[in-house]
Amino acid sequence: MLAVTCRRYGPPEVLKIEEVARPTPKDDEVLVRVRASSVTSGDVRMRAFTGAGIFWLPMRLLFGVLRPWNPITGMEFVGTIADVGKGATAFRVGDVVFGMKIGGANAEFLAVREAGAIAPKPDRLNFEEAAVVPFGALSALEFLRDFVQIKPGQKILIHGASGAVGVFAVQLAKHFGAHVTGVCSTANAELVTSLGADQVIDYSKTDFTRGPGIYDAILDTVGGTSFSRSKRVLAPYGRHVFVVQTLTQLLQALWTSMRRGKRVIVGFSGGDSKEDLLLIKGLIETGRIRPVLDRTYRLPDIVDAHRYVDTGRKRGGVAISIGAAP
Ligand SMILES: NC(=O)c1ccc[n+]([C@@H]2O[C@H](COP(=O)([O-])OP(=O)(O)OC[C@H]3O[C@@H](n4cnc5c(N)ncnc54)[C@H](OP(=O)(O)O)[C@@H]3O)[C@@H](O)[C@H]2O)c1
Repeated sequence: MLAVTCRRYGPPEVLKIEEVARPTPKDDEVLVRVRASSVTSGDVRMRAFTGAGIFWLPMRLLFGVLRPWNPITGMEFVGTIADVGKGATAFRVGDVVFGMKIGGANAEFLAVREAGAIAPKPDRLNFEEAAVVPFGALSALEFLRDFVQIKPGQKILIHGASGAVGVFAVQLAKHFGAHVTGVCSTANAELVTSLGADQVIDYSKTDFTRGPGIYDAILDTVGGTSFSRSKRVLAPYGRHVFVVQTLTQLLQALWTSMRRGKRVIVGFSGGDSKEDLLLIKGLIETGRIRPVLDRTYRLPDIVDAHRYVDTGRKRGGVAISIGAAP
């Protein structure tokens, strides 16, 4: 089968399209014939291995010290079940599914644990639209529910409201009953409003840390904000939750956890919960949330797709089309 491989860390040009062996599903796995995948901010980080900061060593131990352990890139997938393992009973050959698994999704076939983040594709989405759901939606859900601990009526500010995590964070925060302020550039203000944000702050014109808004939580999906500035606009027990963390924020998280009052929270999303993916699928099917598909590239254009995601300017997600439509 054809797959995108990354055999050393570096710029987009390290990526190659290679003929590799098709995976065989283990007993508890299913084999997905991938129709669409994506390039996420996580994929370009793992390829380039920049911005890992203090997590450099643990991340290298996890993903490969000198080169990636799993050379096949990609984590979001949409496709049809091509084969099932001996003990796998949840899906049948021909079922159309979507999901997330770290590594291996930018390929014609992918073996996935059936108990992992894999679920029937929402009917109302095409392959490419469904391919840009899991990473952003699962991250946004985990961060809002588990780290923000969002409650109806709260005032939440989403910094980076137009990225893959941000577009779902805005919609999910509205779904959870919060009053949402989205921070984005002028070009994305209309998009963020269309996603349901009650208020939009254009970061090129206004610094939200100078007020006048007061927030129960700030969810920062891009970095570049600091607790020393944001605490002025946090409510007395407000939380500043960082999706992208530095050592300073880790120490602030430790320090503020030992005190009463405003807190810094740093978190990680696993992105591997089937229950969460089913929740997201349900919200899509009832029209409560929707993906934002910025661009679609073909598999042979994977280097261009990585170059684009490297700009840090994509809106929502970037899909990769693989194989012909069924
Ligand atoms: N900790 C975890 O478990 C976890 C989970 C998921 C993601 N992440 C990380 O979270 C980060 C965000 O992920 P993502 O996929 O959402 O990124 P993304 O899709 O690449 O974000 C791109 C967006 O960021 C916006 N942006 C850039 N600079 C900005 C600024 N100064 N203020 C406001 N918005 C700005 C851009 O909008 P403009 O063009 O309008 O500026 C663009 O729409 C990544 O670093 C990713 O690795 C961490």
